[in-house]
Amino acid sequence: MMVYMASPITDIDRMPRGGPDASCVDRLLQTDRPEYLDRDDVDDGTKRSVIRALEWTGEFFGNTEKFARIVLDEVAEVPDPKILELGSGHGGLSRKLLEWHPTAELTVTDVEPASVAAIAAADLGEHQRATVREMDATAIDAPDGQFDLAVFAFSFHHLPPSLASRAIAQGTRVADKLVIIDLPRPPSPLHILRLAAMLPLAPVVPFVHDGVISSLRTYSPSALRALAAHADPAIEVQLRGGLLNPQVVVASRR
Ligand SMILES: C[S@@+](CC[C@H](N)C(=O)[O-])C[C@H]1O[C@@H](n2cnc3c(N)ncnc32)[C@H](O)[C@@H]1O
Repeated sequence: MMVYMASPITDIDRMPRGGPDASCVDRLLQTDRPEYLDRDDVDDGTKRSVIRALEWTGEFFGNTEKFARIVLDEVAEVPDPKILELGSGHGGLSRKLLEWHPTAELTVTDVEPASVAAIAAADLGEHQRATVREMDATAIDAPDGQFDLAVFAFSFHHLPPSLASRAIAQGTRVADKLVIIDLPRPPSPLHILRLAAMLPLAPVVPFVHDGVISSLRTYSPSALRALAAHADPAIEVQLRGGLLNPQVVVASRR
């Protein structure tokens, strides 16, 4: 009898975004090019326009509400949940969670100081149940088990594999559950169509420019499993969504 054992990925940064089993075409559909949001040489106005567009599209297409429902379902059994939002950008998801849950406490964070300052200067900065802080998802400044849940929405693909794996380790250290929500990585023919639809506007609309790069950098389900296993084999992951909807990962330590 032959027993199949997956070989460990020794250098996780060599893993394609499509995962260890990515096809040849899928391996071509990726880039190391950073988004405007990741670049220090891009003016603040351009970055703010991307963040504002994310907030607007989240509201308009219902993703903010959809993501809030996903989060609240995961803490349905917890009386007064303590929730950490990583990479919150504009704070829209945290605002919805505070609106919908009467006792939840939110720690609203991002790695980008300008985004944190803008969130703190708006209503969330004054909210009794919100704390706004700068925080790096790959080096979370909080004790073990401080939160019931950490959520990282539309941000995970910004991280190269070694840092993405570290974010899983960190998120599951500080929270009982880590919920990662990100763009789906469709099968290559569909992915090429999605890219072709966006490409004409990418040079002129910063939000679309970042969208094309996000699409090329988003991880597949097999990549997400490999990243979690690399972080710690004791981390359990449940994956759902994908194809046309955002994919959702719920990671926790056994
Ligand atoms: C595409 S935006 C998503 C914003 C918001 N979560 C949403 O769903 O619209 C990605 C965000 O991730 C943040 N980010 C990138 N690297 C990060 C890191 N290492 N730790 C925390 N946030 C990070 C960026 O600053 C940015 O605000």
